[in-house]
Amino acid sequence: MELLSVKINDFLHYVGVNDRDTHLFENLWPLENGVAYNSYLLTAEKTALLDTVKITKVSDFSAKLKAALKGKTLDYLVVHHMEPDHSGSIVMIREMYPDVQLVGNKRTIQYLDEFYGITDNILEVKDGDTLDLGGRSLRFYTTPMVHWPESMVSYEEKSKILFSQDAFGGFGALDGTIFDDEINLDFYHSETRRYYSNIVGKFSKQVQSALKKLSGLEISMVCPVHGPIWRSHPEKIIELYDRWSRYEVEEGVVIVYGSMYGNTQRMAEVIARQLAEEGIKNIKVFDVSKTHESYILSEIWRYKGVILGSCTYNNYMFPLMTKLVNVLEMNNLINHVIGVFGSYSWSGGAVKALREFAERGKYDVIDEVIEAKCSACDEDIEGLKRVAKQMAYKLKEDRLSSLQEMLD
Ligand code: FEO
Repeated sequence: MELLSVKINDFLHYVGVNDRDTHLFENLWPLENGVAYNSYLLTAEKTALLDTVKITKVSDFSAKLKAALKGKTLDYLVVHHMEPDHSGSIVMIREMYPDVQLVGNKRTIQYLDEFYGITDNILEVKDGDTLDLGGRSLRFYTTPMVHWPESMVSYEEKSKILFSQDAFGGFGALDGTIFDDEINLDFYHSETRRYYSNIVGKFSKQVQSALKKLSGLEISMVCPVHGPIWRSHPEKIIELYDRWSRYEVEEGVVIVYGSMYGNTQRMAEVIARQLAEEGIKNIKVFDVSKTHESYILSEIWRYKGVILGSCTYNNYMFPLMTKLVNVLEMNNLINHVIGVFGSYSWSGGAVKALREFAERGKYDVIDEVIEAKCSACDEDIEGLKRVAKQMAYKLKEDRLSSLQEMLD
């Protein structure tokens, strides 16, 4: 059976593939809805393949490529990014098309050797260089750390299409629908924010630099290596990445607890209810043993308030809370208010560790910290309500300043 590539326009084919069998992206982040590895074939006087796919999908990928080439040979393979979900099939492509020239920057060339032992038939490009394909041309812009040091994007100058590699990408397989005007945007919005916060968010400063670098370009279409192709409203995904990389947050609170027998959970419920009574509408409560940190991080990226509670487990935080805290620490989040609480059990340790974590970061930390002995007493419950009130007060301060800005 001939595998179908998708014609994007008269010179561009989508030859990407879906991966619905990998459980964890980077062997870390859940892929309940799969992921797409996008790849594009540009056909002008010369042919150029823009990125490849994970090696496990090389069979379908190479069949699609062969069909899209319609008997032509492959002249160039542009390597925008070396992470193996995109570079994994390079060796195979070279076997299929021995004369293909790889295109990458100095760092790409280093990694081609270090990952795959490839040292020949490589064309080095620098920031701002152009590759003439005869009737079409690609201009390269380096975008270091979005997502790796060698990451770069390319821009087809006549059609104004941006090939953006990981930037503007998202989780979620492309279930037949590959363009932004074909998809359910709510689903992809959420999966794209999860991808951003899990994979790219740590490098938000570099995302801002990349956006600044590309801001002078007129962009008609964004073709990333994951998630939908933004052909109708490329400005939407650019705006989302801009907001997320500026840590722009909404009013709301994410409460996460680690609880063995329900005592710490009950404390979380008190805080959640009090927040509701204070008029906070977006309240998300998670059991860290049940919900993977991938989803929790995505919600924390969205909302300004974070409240973490942990029982003490062997003189320290509950192990899965430690895991979450490590992920948060890795991401250097700013523009968040944080509160902590927990239980002492027989030795204490969890609340102290949570408090130290909060103070090490760039958070606005709520002063009051409630540490119940084993289960919360009446005094603890009153304290938890005060924590909720302080959080609500800080969030409402933002409402007032937004209102003030509107009036000014
Ligand atoms: Fe999709 Fe950083 O690779």
